Amino acid sequence: MPLILGLLGSPLPRGNTALLLERALAGAADTGCTVERVNVPLLTFEPCMEILHCMNAPECAQIDDMTPYYERVAEADGIVIATPVMTMGVPGKLKGFIDRFQVFYWAKYGRNEPLVPIERKKQRHGLLLSISGLSLDRTPNVFDGVRATTTAFFDIIDVTPGEELLVDDMDGKRDLARFPALLEEAYAMGRRVGERACGGSGETGTVSG
Ligand SMILES: Cc1cc2nc3c(=O)[nH]c(=O)nc-3n(C[C@H](O)[C@H](O)[C@H](O)COP(=O)(O)O)c2cc1C
Repeated sequence: MPLILGLLGSPLPRGNTALLLERALAGAADTGCTVERVNVPLLTFEPCMEILHCMNAPECAQIDDMTPYYERVAEADGIVIATPVMTMGVPGKLKGFIDRFQVFYWAKYGRNEPLVPIERKKQRHGLLLSISGLSLDRTPNVFDGVRATTTAFFDIIDVTPGEELLVDDMDGKRDLARFPALLEEAYAMGRRVGERACGGSGETGTVSG
């Protein structure tokens, strides 16, 4: 079954961002995809130490909790990133996770030996779910940092950037469960990622992680 990987940037496994991700992955699972959620802040790994082993080899020399995710990301048929804004960008642990994908960068742009066959990019769609505490009215650039990093990540791992659900003013909204329309939107977006990945078989998929 096609695989949709959900990367959670929030340290709260049951927070508002996690709730958005849960709804999106439920949508993808309902199209027949297998969905897997990765609670990135709970992984144990170092940031990229610039050993630069990956300039000439298709793997990372740092062996830790990141190791299985190179293969997982390569085989995924869609990626959902769900992240709060922290200090105007993605939280540090998620940034560290993304930085470690220099392995894919050097394979693709350094050696012209991409780790994801180029024809798969059309099918592999990304979805960005993000939440800010501040309001877009007062801070119009609040999602710019998250967007810049996630767009670069999707390019490096050969995922076609897709829809975005950017929820601002969480300091005012507080509890996302009080906004069912937003949860419904996340579900519908997740469904579309699933449909693109697996052709919308309509079977019920499995959820793990
Ligand atoms: C360390 C930290 C830094 C934050 N920095 C920002 C920020 O720069 N801009 C903003 O709009 N919200 C910021 N926030 C607010 C979060 O984006 C907001 O509380 C969000 O709802 C958290 O989602 P979660 O509860 O699912 O983790 C920050 C929160 C934390 C904990």
